[in-house]
Amino acid sequence: MFQTRIAGIGHYVPKNIYSNHDLTRFMDTSDEWIQARTGIQERRFADRFGETTSSMGIAAAEMAITRAGITAQDIDFIIFATLSPDYYFPGCAVLVQREMGMQEVGALDIRNQCSGFIYALSIGDQFIKTGMYKNILVIGSEKHSFAMDFSTRGRAVSVIFGDGAGAVVLQPTDDSKSGILSTHLHADGTDAEKLAMYYPGSANGMHLDNPPVWPDVELGGLFMTEELVKDGSIFPYMDGQAVFKKAVVKFPEVILEALTKNNLTTSDIDLLIPHQANLRISQYIQKVLQLPNDKVFNNIQKYGNTTAASVPLALSEAWEAGKIKPGDLVCLAAFGAGFTWGAALVRF
Ligand code: UT7
Repeated sequence: MFQTRIAGIGHYVPKNIYSNHDLTRFMDTSDEWIQARTGIQERRFADRFGETTSSMGIAAAEMAITRAGITAQDIDFIIFATLSPDYYFPGCAVLVQREMGMQEVGALDIRNQCSGFIYALSIGDQFIKTGMYKNILVIGSEKHSFAMDFSTRGRAVSVIFGDGAGAVVLQPTDDSKSGILSTHLHADGTDAEKLAMYYPGSANGMHLDNPPVWPDVELGGLFMTEELVKDGSIFPYMDGQAVFKKAVVKFPEVILEALTKNNLTTSDIDLLIPHQANLRISQYIQKVLQLPNDKVFNNIQKYGNTTAASVPLALSEAWEAGKIKPGDLVCLAAFGAGFTWGAALVRF
């Protein structure tokens, strides 16, 4: 069995910066409300046309591949995590394979929302450990801006999310003491509908308390209707408080699970990189785990919540800022829609 190391890290954020104040042009909100509830000051939004989830993922991947000292031709497997793919199908991984001129390597898309990158990392880790692949590209990328309700009706959701991408290259190492020490994945579907985008979907909203009245057609035609667009049902739904309450329990739980599995304690963590869901959630985790400020990395202030991109984007920025040194123990953790959550412990 091999150990998996992170050989290259990269990220990309769109150039368009939207401050909290900028959002007040579209909806009834304020910088005070957003900062007090989430810690977010600004976020990036991709170009409406021409810039996509896959193109941002590719930009992050190019950086990670260069830093790993390899070329796109060396990649032997691609894993792409996103909830905002370019197309309903096929997924983004095949677009990366095509646009980066890679070999006919396997390309996998996974749908685990905020914990998508942790799940992707874990999948990549298993393939490297068994010796099946030698250079796996793992990408997390999101273009939330195309599917948010930027009117006052959608403000509780749309002020939180931003666009961006992050990527890593995974390689085998013989050093049994470094690399990914372990990954821990969990899910609880009980509250699957509490953070969700219901349409388009084959359930056709029938799980809702007030299912929509559908047009009188015998077959088909329910994919996307004028009514869904008009009443805002096409936009993501979030019961923010339910997510918050579960997140502050599950984040510390899975981090402690990872530490215990490796006979480590919170004092062994050199840097915790939590999924950037809400600065208040990160601060709560920090308090529970009794970690000092310099051991927790947050960049939600600049980017908002970028879902599957948030962990690799933060990891890349932390690495660039010199906050990760050889030998450091880094803990990555995430919680989000599904609900799904997970953690990874990595020795650099
Ligand atoms: O990545 C995982 C996914 N998501 C999360 O982790 C999110 C977790 N949840 C949260 O971060 C918080 O629940 C939110 C930031 C989403 C919301 O904060 P909250 O403290 O739970 O606020 P709330 O939803 O209870 O709303 C409080 C008030 C309401 O007004 P009333 O009913 O008290 O008059 C809302 O209508 O704030 C109002 N409100 C806003 N006001 C100004 C909601 N959104 C906004 C807004 N600007 N953007």
